[in-house]
Amino acid sequence: MNNGILTFENVAIHMGGREILSSTSLSVQRGEFVCVIGPSGCGKTTLLRAAAGFVAPSGGAVRRNGEAITGPSREVAFVFQDYGRALLPWRTVAANVSLALEAAKVPTAERPARIARVLATVGLAAHADKFPAQLSGGMQQRVQIARCLAQEPSLMMMDEPFGALDAMTRESLQDELARLVREQGLTVMFVTHDLEEALYLGDRVIALRANPTADKPSLAAMIDVPLPYPRNQLTTKEHPEFLRLRRALYQYLGHH
Ligand SMILES: Nc1ncnc2c1ncn2[C@@H]1O[C@H](COP(=O)(O)OP(=O)(O)O)[C@@H](O)[C@H]1O
Ligand SMILES: [Mg+2]
Repeated sequence: MNNGILTFENVAIHMGGREILSSTSLSVQRGEFVCVIGPSGCGKTTLLRAAAGFVAPSGGAVRRNGEAITGPSREVAFVFQDYGRALLPWRTVAANVSLALEAAKVPTAERPARIARVLATVGLAAHADKFPAQLSGGMQQRVQIARCLAQEPSLMMMDEPFGALDAMTRESLQDELARLVREQGLTVMFVTHDLEEALYLGDRVIALRANPTADKPSLAAMIDVPLPYPRNQLTTKEHPEFLRLRRALYQYLGHH
C-alpha cells in the first residue's frame, strides 16, 4: 500500500460534526487512472480535496510519494466541473492558462511558448485570443485542462469535469483526455456520476458508500478494468467485459 504516488492510510474526515469519510485506505500508482463513483454526498469531492491538500484528515494520513500532505502543491492540479467559474471571464484563453505559470513564477519570457504548447495539446491553438464567453462549454473545459497541464502536475484531480457537457462533447473530451494522460504519463483521480464513463476511462474504479461507519468504511468496492487500450467509444462499450462490469457496478450502486 505504501509504494503509490498517492496513498490514503485509514483516512477519516469529519466536517460539520459528521464523519464524511471513514477508514479509507487506498493507493494510487504512478500513471494510473482511477475513477471514483458513488451516490451524491458520499464524499467523492472531499476525497479529491484531501488528495490535493485542501482539507486535512482528522484521522489517518494522506501521502504523496510517501510524504504526508500538508497543504496545496503545484504537483497536484484540480479540474472542476464548473468551468464557467474556474475561468476568469476578463482574461483571454492564453491569459487564463498564464495564471498557472504566474502562480509558479515562470519567467515572463518563457510563458508564451509554454502557453502555445498546452493550447496546441488540447486543440485550442487557434483560440488563444478569445475570451471564455466566446467559447462552447467543451472548449472552456479544454481551457481549464490546458491550465492544469501548464502547471506540469504529477497528479490531476478531476471532479466530474465532463458532467455539464452534452454527450457528444463529453465523448470527444474523454478520448482526448485518455490520449493526453497516456502521452504525458499523468496520474489521475476522476470523479464521475456516470458508470460508463468510469469504466471507459479508468484502469480501476473505486466505489464509495454514503454514511460510512467504522465497520462499513467509505471504500465499498474497488474493481480493476482489464479492457484493452486505446479504448474506443464503440468497441470498448460493446466488449463483454465492459458490459459485465457495468452490470456489477450498476447493481452495486442500486443497492446502496
Ligand atoms: N466544508 C464542509 N462543511 C461541512 N460539510 C461539508 C463540507 N463539505 C462537504 N460537506 C458535506 O460532506 C458530504 C460529502 O460531500 P462531498 O464530498 O461534496 O460529496 P460528493 O462529492 O460525493 O457529492 C456532504 O454531505 C456535504 O454536505
Ligand atoms: Mg462532489
